[in-house]
Amino acid sequence: MSNESLTITDNRTGQKYEVAITDNTIQAMDLRQIKVDEEDFGLMTYDPSFMNTAACRSAITFIDGERGILRYRGYPIEQLAEKATFLEVAYLLSEGELPNQEQLDKWTDLIKYHTYVHTNIIKFLEGFRYDAHPMGMLLGAVSALSTFYPDARNIKDPENRYLQRARLLAKAPTIAAFAFRHSRGLPFVFPDNDLDYVGNFVNMTFSIGGQHKANKVLQRALEVLLILHADHEQNCSTSAVRGVGSSSVDLYSSVSAGIAALYGPLHGGANEAVIKMLDEIGTRDNIPGFIKDVKDGKRRLMGFGHRVYKSYDPRAELIKKIAFEVFDQTGMNPKLEVALELERIALEDDYFISRKLYPNVDFYSGLIYQAMGYPTEYFTVLFALGRMPGWLAQWEEMRCDENLKIARPRQIYTGPEERPYVPIEQRKALASV
Ligand code: CMC
Repeated sequence: MSNESLTITDNRTGQKYEVAITDNTIQAMDLRQIKVDEEDFGLMTYDPSFMNTAACRSAITFIDGERGILRYRGYPIEQLAEKATFLEVAYLLSEGELPNQEQLDKWTDLIKYHTYVHTNIIKFLEGFRYDAHPMGMLLGAVSALSTFYPDARNIKDPENRYLQRARLLAKAPTIAAFAFRHSRGLPFVFPDNDLDYVGNFVNMTFSIGGQHKANKVLQRALEVLLILHADHEQNCSTSAVRGVGSSSVDLYSSVSAGIAALYGPLHGGANEAVIKMLDEIGTRDNIPGFIKDVKDGKRRLMGFGHRVYKSYDPRAELIKKIAFEVFDQTGMNPKLEVALELERIALEDDYFISRKLYPNVDFYSGLIYQAMGYPTEYFTVLFALGRMPGWLAQWEEMRCDENLKIARPRQIYTGPEERPYVPIEQRKALASV
């Protein structure tokens, strides 16, 4: 009997089974052989929300949630945040290695070549109401790209997939900026390919009559925030991209599923929820009452807690540092005082300590985006721009996975047994509707 195995005794039958352990994991399908009799379907696992189930093998991002470690393709997030550009990180996530100068120049040119969107996208965006949530606009426009690029349906050709990934990375800031301008009733600003990726986005969002004179500290801060959000292994939105993509649908439709998932307040929408929470708390005096409500289960401390990190989220640590650099330029955001005090109290409180709840990436990011001039409902769009390279790389890895099959979880059926159809006149009246 190999040491790298698990012996299971089925107490229903007394039968013993040996199941191989690879990478500290057993294969769920190996349990199917465990049956009471020949008619039996075989044993399954029940794991709602995938708390302890690996759904793929991935070489992109490594997280050690207990020790607060995050690495892209082996490189520590702290080093990438300090030294890399966003496009370098996007290349790294996609290709597995940092680009040399020639590769980076080629990659940058390719992305610049694709920054414009078809003018019909403008008509499409103009169809949204003035107060449409920009995440809804981004979601709609990215999924609409699948109709502008029907060639994207050819998902078997690696070169075609590469082209579509470059297109989406290039067009995402343009669409995001157009959504921003639409909400404000401002004319759309077209891409300026003399600017770099982040500079171009900032110009498309903020320019009024001529090129926007960007504050370089703020621009670099935004770039670092995008880098910190670029990938985070099999989170809710990435799993959505992979799950939908496993049906062999095109890249744009797959990524729009990721955008939809990110829109939710428990995922990317949390940065927006943090600002609303800080506004509601208002001043430091109201913090104890708020914390009491959280501990009584009446509400959540938004921007705290993480499914994977059970110590300080390394991204939150870096973002807190950036917040001070940004406020140095823009003046202090009064909500920072409340946020710092909330954090201090929570980190000393047994409720949060015992549940290993620490600030996550969203706790301070919203304050920075607000100081930069982005409205609250736009924060998740910035998260989506950052996460785009991760979704693209994970989609490509999924497409190349020799074990890829269409995602199709099992269920434990809890409904009624078979019963005959009841004619309407014989059905009992419902007590209430
Ligand atoms: N405030 C108060 N209590 C909390 C919080 C919170 N933010 N998060 C978790 N808990 C409690 C929860 O009530 C539960 O307590 P008990 O054991 O007494 O029932 C315990 O901690 C475990 O919580 P859980 O909901 O089982 O944990 P989870 O892994 O399912 O949830 C989470 C992770 C991120 C959804 C959750 O921590 C949360 O809702 N946080 C607030 C929203 C937020 O900041 N989301 C951004 C996540 S990071 C960026 C991203 O990935 O998008």
